[in-house]
Amino acid sequence: MTDDSPKSPHAPVLLAEVIEALAPAPGDVVIDATFGAGGYTRAILKTGAQVVALDRDPTVQSHADAVANDFRGQFQLIRTPFSGLAQAFADSGKAKLDGAVFDIGVSSMQLDQAERGFSFMRDGPLDMRMSDEGATAADIVNTWDHGPLAHIFKLYGEERQSGRVATAILRRRVEQPFTRTLDLAEVVEKALGGRRGAPIHPATRVFQALRIAVNDELGELERGLEAAEATLAPGGRLAVVTFHSLEDRIVK
Ligand SMILES: C[S@@+](CC[C@H](N)C(=O)[O-])C[C@H]1O[C@@H](n2cnc3c(N)ncnc32)[C@H](O)[C@@H]1O
Repeated sequence: MTDDSPKSPHAPVLLAEVIEALAPAPGDVVIDATFGAGGYTRAILKTGAQVVALDRDPTVQSHADAVANDFRGQFQLIRTPFSGLAQAFADSGKAKLDGAVFDIGVSSMQLDQAERGFSFMRDGPLDMRMSDEGATAADIVNTWDHGPLAHIFKLYGEERQSGRVATAILRRRVEQPFTRTLDLAEVVEKALGGRRGAPIHPATRVFQALRIAVNDELGELERGLEAAEATLAPGGRLAVVTFHSLEDRIVK
């Protein structure tokens, strides 16, 4: 099955596999915990099932309005992180949850908008929040001590030279705090000795680590999966699409 919506700016991954795993039937209720641009939601709605969609990003609202218009009475969006899944389902007024799907990570809309601060390729404010609440990436690199910074670069970014990067960040922020993505990317690149023909940008792992920390992505995933398990009806189905091994380990 493909997403034939002309409005979708995010190409949903593994859509056919997700629909096969969820096997939604007319009248079923499914939670799409990562609404995004609504690619999964639209495919689920086309089967005649109902969707309670969740997303922590307020900018998905325009996509939700379009879906609500195309599938009247079948769809609602609740703005919440995964950890609010059980409460959101209770608030939806639905009696029984037949399926839930998580498409983990950031959307291409989030990555492509320089002003969201996720990209080391486009200059923007050093933000990286999926929602509009909580500490930004700039708050973290400008205030955390060496130990915790090096720890997240190693743990969440699998950056082997995590200590060296943390040292470079602490040295630089004394002179001038970080505010922009390209500024941080340059400092990280220099700390790691430049590109030297590396297949990926040297700042890739540090940016991934900061994004995971800013959004507490792994903690949210754990709490979301626990909530889904507790909320699903007996025989209900759960489908999770992961992007990297840290998420994969939690799901398994
Ligand atoms: C990869 S995109 C999903 C794309 C979607 N499947 C589609 O077809 O358009 C992930 C979405 O989940 C949201 N998200 C990620 N982590 C979240 C969390 N912990 N709680 C709520 N929403 C989250 C992001 O804001 C983003 O919009």
